[in-house]
Amino acid sequence: MNCYLETKNLNKRYGSFEAVKNMNVHIYKGDIYGLIGPNGAGKTTLMKMIIGFAGPTSGEIVLNSEKKGEGVIGNLIESPGIYGHLTAFENMMLKAKAQGVYNKDELLDILEFVGLSNVPKKKAGKFSLGMKQRLGIALALIGDPEILILDEPTNGLDPQGIIEVRELIHKLRAERNMTIMISSHILSELQKVANVFGIISNGELVMEVTSDELMEKYNGDSGALEEFYLDVVRGGKKVC
Ligand SMILES: Nc1ncnc2c1ncn2[C@@H]1O[C@H](COP(=O)(O)OP(=O)(O)OP(=O)(O)O)[C@@H](O)[C@H]1O
Ligand SMILES: [Mg+2]
Repeated sequence: MNCYLETKNLNKRYGSFEAVKNMNVHIYKGDIYGLIGPNGAGKTTLMKMIIGFAGPTSGEIVLNSEKKGEGVIGNLIESPGIYGHLTAFENMMLKAKAQGVYNKDELLDILEFVGLSNVPKKKAGKFSLGMKQRLGIALALIGDPEILILDEPTNGLDPQGIIEVRELIHKLRAERNMTIMISSHILSELQKVANVFGIISNGELVMEVTSDELMEKYNGDSGALEEFYLDVVRGGKKVC
């Protein structure tokens, strides 16, 4: 089976510092690819290169999608670009018009999909953090992308917000056959949504492992990803 998105010897250097080193990630269609690694490991840098926000120093990104050109990859990197004085729909309209893909019905469908159609008059500045993240994902869905790149979408959310994002990711996979790369430091949460994991450390991809392989190795333990992460990144030493 061909990779849907892969990087080939991808490098990013800032001066003499190598933020991403010879990275080869493999994402297949329909994968929910969980990207994990310590602070500063290079997760956001990798994601920025994949979506074209940062140019690689060397190497390449190969996308085997049917849809070509812009709009194949949607993203939510860092905090969503939301205007607090506008409603969810107005935020969506602004972005869609800027992308040249404005279609009112499509935007209303997306808002319905992410569960924000029930607050048509509320200004986004008054949204809860969870609602803001869901609006961020809605914004990323404009233009009907095939792949979503989500950088720590549950960062700062309370348990309810985390569950909402989790359910949304499951729904994106089930109903839109979306391929998703998602980074998170909450390993127990990531284990609930992703079917494959890439572990990066010091700019290098240490390992790619499927959730099935993890389940087998750790006898179905709900803490399997954390155990594995500690084994791989810290050589088995728990630090706290
Ligand atoms: N524009 C930049 N200029 C210089 N160094 C940078 C730049 N962007 C990132 N870096 C460095 O590259 C390394 C990787 O950063 P990156 O943000 O990709 O890490 P991360 O894995 O996303 O970390 P976190 O878990 O904290 O989000 C860090 O050492 C960071 O300081
Ligand atoms: Mg980051």
